[in-house]
Amino acid sequence: MRAAPAIFSPLCIRGVALKNRLVMLPMSPQLGTDDGCVTPRIVDFYRARARGGVGTIIVGATYVDPRGGFAGGQMGISRDEQLIGLRRLAATIKDGGARALIQLHHAGRRARSANTGLEPVAPSAIPEFEGAEVPKALTVGQIEGLVDDYARAAARAEKAGFDGVEIHCAHGYLPDQFFNPRANARNDAYGGDLEGRTLFARQLISACRGIVSSSFLITVRLSGENGMPLADMVPIARRLEEAGVDMINVSAGDTPERTVPDYYWPAGVNVHLAETIRRQVQVPVLACGRVRTVAEAESMLQQEQADLVGLGRALLADPEFPQKAARGDLDSIFYCFSCNQVCHNPLRKIPGIACSINARTGREGDFPFIPATDTKRVIVVGGGLAGCQAALAASERGHTVTLFEETVRLGGKLVAASSPPGKKHFLDVVKGFERALEQAGVRVVVNKRADMESIMQEKPHSVILATGSHPLIPPVSGIEVAEVVTAEAVLTGTVQTSSPLVVVGAGAVGLETAHLLLEQGHNLVVIDMLDRAGEGLTNSAKEHLLGVLDRGGVAVVLNTTLVAVEPGYVRVEREGVSERLMAKQVVLATGYEPRQDLVAPLGEMVEVVMIGDAAEPRDIEHAILEGLQAAYNL
Ligand SMILES: Cc1cc2nc3c(=O)[nH]c(=O)nc-3n(C[C@H](O)[C@H](O)[C@H](O)COP(=O)(O)O)c2cc1C
Repeated sequence: MRAAPAIFSPLCIRGVALKNRLVMLPMSPQLGTDDGCVTPRIVDFYRARARGGVGTIIVGATYVDPRGGFAGGQMGISRDEQLIGLRRLAATIKDGGARALIQLHHAGRRARSANTGLEPVAPSAIPEFEGAEVPKALTVGQIEGLVDDYARAAARAEKAGFDGVEIHCAHGYLPDQFFNPRANARNDAYGGDLEGRTLFARQLISACRGIVSSSFLITVRLSGENGMPLADMVPIARRLEEAGVDMINVSAGDTPERTVPDYYWPAGVNVHLAETIRRQVQVPVLACGRVRTVAEAESMLQQEQADLVGLGRALLADPEFPQKAARGDLDSIFYCFSCNQVCHNPLRKIPGIACSINARTGREGDFPFIPATDTKRVIVVGGGLAGCQAALAASERGHTVTLFEETVRLGGKLVAASSPPGKKHFLDVVKGFERALEQAGVRVVVNKRADMESIMQEKPHSVILATGSHPLIPPVSGIEVAEVVTAEAVLTGTVQTSSPLVVVGAGAVGLETAHLLLEQGHNLVVIDMLDRAGEGLTNSAKEHLLGVLDRGGVAVVLNTTLVAVEPGYVRVEREGVSERLMAKQVVLATGYEPRQDLVAPLGEMVEVVMIGDAAEPRDIEHAILEGLQAAYNL
């Protein structure tokens, strides 16, 4: 019997057979042309997911009207010229074995004229938040025009070969703005009571239904709570059902933080919303939001909380999640850890969809699964994420690979990075690598510090140095005493800790170490010489951590430089004034420096490449990407 029988049971909606219950959630890849056309990168991105075994793919938000577009690279479905690419996209998804739906989108007041060059429109002239661009209130004639735009977009979707559309009525976008009295102050037929506030969405559904064939799916996405409580959303769902939708995808939120919940939110965070709505409607309901594991998805179906389960970031991290689940090979899945560092981080300036732990995401064409023409003997030194990825990809390409790791386990800095509260599941990615390396036939030698002799004994053609980094110890008087420890030592539990403590460094590592120490019951203070905290964290993780520390009584003192460590206290300087802070122990979270000791001697004898922190201490995204690049450059 299959490990997850409910997931792999088929479902038929309006005569359209879905081979399983897993649905790829709409995620706009932001890789389109300036005029909203599909690019080869978008096709490659979806091909990988379709081939990975998911039953249905909902292509991410495509604008029905350029005025409602949200940012560069979004695909459109507003003009016939966009059909060529959309046809290719639908055919690719279906050839890969999945059903293809496409999401119809209008951002309303969340569009920005700086992006679209057009004045945003909305039910009422109410900005998204104070200080945001004020939209123009739609006239009835304009609303009717928009209904027509959606209908024509649905017709284009059918012409392109899609099996259906999803009308985006969630996340604070235009139809959701009509639902919400905080955004809709109209006193005509489109405002007022529930009947009025749902009129636009109901008209969209009927207009789309009226223009497509009877076997074409018309579905909607709804936020089960979005500033309006669930109790208000249930009657909305019922009205949309009455208007003729075939399936309801229940998401949540009208802010990015709530819509794409990070690891501080519980797993399956929205399932109760889907479950409540499902009890009130007859059509199939999809649950989604931080569904990370096969067991979570299976349980939602087994317990009849939902009919379908949506996977978003899980399929960015591993497009083959469904296939691996079907085989019961759960350890080989690369599980998303909801870091949002790369896929959903406005601070990241590089456009286009990407993933911290899967560097192929959005770059599928750059790293095809094809063997190298010239195969080599390759040594990888260092079993952190960069080294693991390099070894795996090199082996997959046909090279003979040995990976040396000096500690007893793979994972490198991630071992420490996964110990703060809420981050244990980050280590799952290491399990994914362990299993994949085994399956790929990489010789993994742990507990072995590679030196010149052991490396040259293997007669390698190439050596990839992924030796990581050391904690940086600032040149401060008195720092070389036993009471001064590194954050890494605290996180890995290799030192005893005693209060009061001073954590030096309020970047990601410093704040997370402080979080762990707080949970362990310590008194501490965090200092940083900079004028800001949380460098390296997403805004939402930073806000969460600073909130937890504040509530726990941990002061984060900025513009404060460590000057000296003395018995029982540290001396600091803040805005030119010298102070003493009590400290039985000092924890250094002051950055890292690369470990490059093998480069010079090896470089004279063999081809050497340095990757990840060994080249320059940075984040997971760079470690994994450079691992992949090194394997493809061999
Ligand atoms: C990169 C990215 C792009 C997204 N784009 C869309 C979109 O176009 N339409 C939409 O309804 N939701 C979008 N979302 C939200 C996802 O569909 C999903 O609701 C969210 O990621 C939570 O599900 P997950 O935990 O399975 O990732 C996006 C999320 C991400 C990470």
